[in-house]
Amino acid sequence: MKVTVFGIGYVGLVQAAVLAEVGHDVMCIDVDEAKVTNLKKGVIPIFEPGLAPLVKENYEAGRLTFTTDAEAGVAHGEIQFIAVGTPPDEDGSADLKYVTAVARTIAEHMTSYKVIIDKSTVPVGTADKVKSVVMETLARRQANLPFDVVSNPEFLKEGAAVSDCMKPERIIIGTDNNQVLDLMRELYGPFNRNHDRMVIMDIRSAELTKYAANCMLATKISFMNEMSNLAELLGADIEKVRQGIGSDSRIGYHFIYPGCGYGGSCFPKDVQALIRTAEHIGYQPVLLQAVEAVNAKQKHKLFSFIQRHFNGDLKGRTFALWGLSFKPNTDDMRESSSRVLMETLWEAGAKVQAFDPEAMEETQRIYGTRSDLALMGTKEAALQGADALIICTEWQNFRAPDFDLIKATLKHAAIFDGRNLYEPERMVQRGFTYYGIGRGASV
Ligand code: UGA
Repeated sequence: MKVTVFGIGYVGLVQAAVLAEVGHDVMCIDVDEAKVTNLKKGVIPIFEPGLAPLVKENYEAGRLTFTTDAEAGVAHGEIQFIAVGTPPDEDGSADLKYVTAVARTIAEHMTSYKVIIDKSTVPVGTADKVKSVVMETLARRQANLPFDVVSNPEFLKEGAAVSDCMKPERIIIGTDNNQVLDLMRELYGPFNRNHDRMVIMDIRSAELTKYAANCMLATKISFMNEMSNLAELLGADIEKVRQGIGSDSRIGYHFIYPGCGYGGSCFPKDVQALIRTAEHIGYQPVLLQAVEAVNAKQKHKLFSFIQRHFNGDLKGRTFALWGLSFKPNTDDMRESSSRVLMETLWEAGAKVQAFDPEAMEETQRIYGTRSDLALMGTKEAALQGADALIICTEWQNFRAPDFDLIKATLKHAAIFDGRNLYEPERMVQRGFTYYGIGRGASV
């Protein structure tokens, strides 16, 4: 099938590459000329395991093309994906200007039937907006052309995006026209083998499903973070509690890891956007507001330990920081807890020596050169001359470090672990003062 994807961001690029991999003929459109030129040379704008070879192979095979030519894009596919960004506007609502601009572009250039698929995370009611933009534009052109709008949200996780897209747990299709389903079945057939993963529903339910999923996951995390704060005050160990409750199959082990707060481009933005949606229609989303508030507080958790440990005397101190990305296997720093922590440490007059396996360039791009930030080549180098060690991201190779070396290198044998990588008793035996999240008597 011929498919066009507008927006070569995370979702657009991965979706396009995966559709090309199963044999569809995919054209990607983006307004960013540099991005398009780079992709043609095989330079991928993001770090995502498995994505670079997938893009390269399919580009070389001619199944995946990149261009800034929107008219050519509209002409190419019967199926037109909208996968552009929906950044938060000033009040946290999702800003739909890029989505509606693409809808207008499609309507301006189309000369035959199109299925317009909303892939971006968009508030309930967006498909209706897209529909009216297309209808208005067609009316202005005096073109009476048929089209359908489908809501088909994406559920990929950064760091596992390619496999999530190749083997989706569900394919949500929101449509008000059942005829379009045949096209969707053909498009997603290669991903829909063994058992039917397509969940068909009306458009508004599909739009809300995306927000409900992310808000549910964010709620689980904030709930666990709240429990971890209670565990700490009550002298309990949240890691034991986590295993205790996870064994209940109704609760499950997934996504109940306490930590120094959730980040990324999705949870913070989507929780906020759903709060705004609710408020706009006069509903007070008390639970979602609490999820957000708990998370904002949790991002200061490590700082409060650090302040307590050093009796508020942080000026002139240097901290080794392991992990900058919002989670492992990505270089994405958006809403990362490490940023809140670094910025708070800087305000308190401390310096940071940071290491991350992938996010160093991104950190440099965000913060530029500053005297209170040193980006170090290895995790061991980050320890040199530092007062203490802080861990913000659970990269695999932070899990079993050389503790003797850490102890010998740090000025104070103190570790502030935002991801509960180590066992408190063992750390005490090794001679560290160890701060984990919700680890009871040990903190
Ligand atoms: C999230 C969802 O998991 C995807 O299903 C969704 O498609 C995506 O948003 C999106 O809307 O595009 P992602 O942002 O890549 O994916 O990251 P997650 O793996 O969900 O992690 C988000 C944050 O939660 C990270 O900061 C992570 O450290 C934190 N987290 C996760 C915890 O603190 N505890 C946990 O138990 C799990």
